[in-house]
Amino acid sequence: MSESLNSTPQWSSRFAFILVATGSAVGLGNIWKFPYIVGENGGGAFVLIYLVCIALIGLPIMMAEIMLGRRGGQNPILTIKTLTTHCKANRVWIVFGWVGVLAGVMILSYYSVIAGWAMAYVFRSLSGMFVNANSDTVALIFTDLVSSPEKLIAWHTFFMMMTIAVVMKGVNCGIEKVVKFIMPALFILLLILVFYAMQAGDFSAAVSFLFAPNFSEVRYESILEAMGHAFFTLSLGMGVMMTYGSYLPHNVSIAKASIIITLFDTLIALLAGLAIFPIVFANDLLPSAGPGLIFNTLPIAFGAMTSGTFFASLFFLLLVFAAWTSAVSLLEPLVAYLIKNRGMSRATATIRSGIAIWFLGLGTIFSFNIWSDIKWSLSIGSVKLYQDATFFNVLDYLTANIMLPIGGLFVALFAGWIIKREKRKETLQLDELPYAMWMIAIKYVAPFSLIVIFLKSLNII
Ligand code: TRP
Repeated sequence: MSESLNSTPQWSSRFAFILVATGSAVGLGNIWKFPYIVGENGGGAFVLIYLVCIALIGLPIMMAEIMLGRRGGQNPILTIKTLTTHCKANRVWIVFGWVGVLAGVMILSYYSVIAGWAMAYVFRSLSGMFVNANSDTVALIFTDLVSSPEKLIAWHTFFMMMTIAVVMKGVNCGIEKVVKFIMPALFILLLILVFYAMQAGDFSAAVSFLFAPNFSEVRYESILEAMGHAFFTLSLGMGVMMTYGSYLPHNVSIAKASIIITLFDTLIALLAGLAIFPIVFANDLLPSAGPGLIFNTLPIAFGAMTSGTFFASLFFLLLVFAAWTSAVSLLEPLVAYLIKNRGMSRATATIRSGIAIWFLGLGTIFSFNIWSDIKWSLSIGSVKLYQDATFFNVLDYLTANIMLPIGGLFVALFAGWIIKREKRKETLQLDELPYAMWMIAIKYVAPFSLIVIFLKSLNII
């Protein structure tokens, strides 16, 4: 992609756009977060709700977000400013742009810490530590890492530097190439892991855990979490797709691109679940182990495999790359804003935001060791938002469960109700039937379900 002074940069092709957007979508959310929240929320019913949220809310909102970006053509805050002016809408909408940029900062601060774990695991795998390791050894290796603030800070610093380096070079120079290589490789490695898990793990227990829904256990908070994760995993609700959409050439079908990205993202998450849970059940581990789940399970599988050291190192390396392409997309909206609206150079904007985010990341690092006993609870009136949450839990809750869905609600309302019909049709280039379906989803289904899930899970209705 080229970036010149006067023109907005354009993706070299539709394929390039799909690659970069997939690079943003597929990341720790699919391989690290999805399995552990499925485990914490009891399995099948949660998975089903998540899939419904992806199809009915995520996909239409992704199309809407890309559409807004293409029409607005700038960073999220400016896009919304431009669009509100064009549509003579209230300026209040701009607040949503801010929520998005802030959410990106908050997410990246912990994202970088977890990506740091994956980096540490590349080296642990290479050292052969996992060969024939049992669940106790593997658990010890994990505890040893997360209980050391120094080690975590070192990895977090390293990962933030990698992210800053890419964003500084200009929008996604090189990301296309990285994604082209890592996505297929990641996919193949996950398949190998699933095959392995079929033979060595308790595959049938995993399949029924993941796909046999038991609705009696579902709480409204789980529905909110499933919906929040649909936003998180598709990189929606904070203007990333809007920013990327603004660089999209006009001959590209937004719908097709969105469907491809969504399907691939979902497939990767399900494969990760199918690789991890057979190992969980075969080794009597707890599905609800939390953020350490993949680090406590996959090494056992790799340790028992032929050439396990090679596969383990490669897997964690690919995970780092996948996290990297997502991290870049979390930083880009803020940087784009600082450049255009505050007149900073790209280098200054990136370095300053990177340093601020690095500091915020320390909070997550300490959540796993020296601050692990500091717990927050927040309730508004009789409504309990979260209880006994660490700093990391709070960041995760506020971003995924509150800020991204609010961002998504905004996108849906703006795209469905404010933008003129002809403009919508012209930008989406859809046939009558798919267009009508999308309209129903974006005007009614998505906003209505978002609001109901919010109010219900907060016990307001
Ligand atoms: N989707 C990424 C993942 O699953 C994370 C991510 C990147 C993200 N950009 C985002 C999440 C923007 C929300 C908003 O790992």
